[in-house]
Amino acid sequence: MNISIIGTGYVGLVTGACFAKLGHDVICVDINEDRINDINKGIAPIYEDKLDGILKKCIKEGSLKATADIRHAVENTSVSFICVGTPSGLLGYIDLKYIDEVSKDIGTILKDKDDYHVVVVKSTVVPGTTEHSVLPVLEKNSGKKAGRDFGVCMNPEFLREGTAVDDFMYPDRMIIGGIDERSTDAVFDLYKDFKCPTIKTDPKTAEMIKYATNSFLVTKISFINEIGNICKQLDIDVFEVSRGLGMDSRVSPKFLNAGIGFGGSCFPKDVKALVGKAKEVYYRPIVLNAALELNETQPLRLVELLERKIGSIKNENVVVLGLAFKPGTDDMREAPSIKVVQTLIKKEANVFVTDPKAVGEAKKLMGEHERLTYCNSSEDAVKNGKYILIVTEWDEFRDKKLYKGKIVIDGRKIDEAMAADYYEGVCW
Ligand code: NAD
Ligand code: UGA
Repeated sequence: MNISIIGTGYVGLVTGACFAKLGHDVICVDINEDRINDINKGIAPIYEDKLDGILKKCIKEGSLKATADIRHAVENTSVSFICVGTPSGLLGYIDLKYIDEVSKDIGTILKDKDDYHVVVVKSTVVPGTTEHSVLPVLEKNSGKKAGRDFGVCMNPEFLREGTAVDDFMYPDRMIIGGIDERSTDAVFDLYKDFKCPTIKTDPKTAEMIKYATNSFLVTKISFINEIGNICKQLDIDVFEVSRGLGMDSRVSPKFLNAGIGFGGSCFPKDVKALVGKAKEVYYRPIVLNAALELNETQPLRLVELLERKIGSIKNENVVVLGLAFKPGTDDMREAPSIKVVQTLIKKEANVFVTDPKAVGEAKKLMGEHERLTYCNSSEDAVKNGKYILIVTEWDEFRDKKLYKGKIVIDGRKIDEAMAADYYEGVCW
């Protein structure tokens, strides 16, 4: 099938590259010219395992192209996936400006297109968006009727950064929420060779399944962090507790790693967006707010524990190992490292940070400061001071040599760091 992908970030580019790999002809659209140029050269503009190889092959074979020309892309394909960002807006409510812009563009193009076309929302959008925002904009700008002249579907994405290609290719399940059977079946057809269960449903249920999933995972993380905080006071190993808890098949062992909490481009913003949507319908979510609240303070426990051990950190050199919100990515969005570094600087410590991939992104986000030094490697970073905080569990930090003679507060359970003179976990 001929597929267009609008927005070539993590979700769009992975979706486009994987569909091309599966034998479809894909046109990727973005407004960012640098991204387009990189993609057309076979270079992934984001750091994502396996993506470069697939991209190079598909560009060479001609099954994937990138362009800024959305008209060309929509006119020459029969399905368009909307994969643009849906950031947090005012007070955490979802900001749908990119979705609106793309819906208007596609609607205007559909006005002049005779063939049946299916518009698929893959971006994460709050329940009701596809039917009550995207669909009317498409109808208004095309002058056509959804269901009769074109199809509309919501197909949420569950991939994780760092393992995005495998997550896309081998999902746990497929959720397809069409406005009618024809739209749903057109999208189902694209995934027909995927060996996973599929739920065919309506758009708002598909949208809610995505939010329920992210909200549940966030709650699970904050839950185990809370258990960890209590375990620490009681001198109990929370990882042993997680192991025992995870053996209960109703719980599952995944997402029970206690530590300094969750960050990333989606968990915080998606839960805030669902809280915002709930407020709109006069419901105040208790569990979701508690999960967010605990996550606000969890990273700061690293600094508190260091102060408890050594007293004031003013003018002390503190090394921070890890900046990315998790290993395997250069993504710094909502990374717990930001709060840790800001707090250390506020307390007038000299901060030496390093990360195998995210130093460039960190510089863009955190900028320069007289008390902040970006180091090229963990070996370089640890030369600067005795006190080490572990923020991201990169394999590069699993080296006992880094910790000899040091005082370490660990936010991610790096066992090798126990070789330090003094070792303490954030909730173990
Ligand atoms: P991103 O910010 O990495 O990429 C979005 C892209 O859209 C950018 O390249 C931007 O230039 C482009 N864009 C913006 N306006 C455009 C327009 N008018 N026309 C064409 N391109 C335009 O975003 P992402 O991380 O890929 O997330 C996209 C959506 O998928 C979000 O709703 C997110 O919540 C959801 N999601 C993300 C992940 C993830 O792991 N990142 C996983 C599942 C779902
Ligand atoms: C997450 C979800 O896992 C994906 O299914 C979803 O598609 C995506 O959000 C999204 O909607 O964007 P991602 O943000 O890439 O994926 O990363 P995760 O591996 O889920 O980790 C998120 C955060 O939770 C990280 O900061 C990680 O360190 C933290 N985490 C994760 C924990 O603190 N403990 C755990 O046990 C697991």
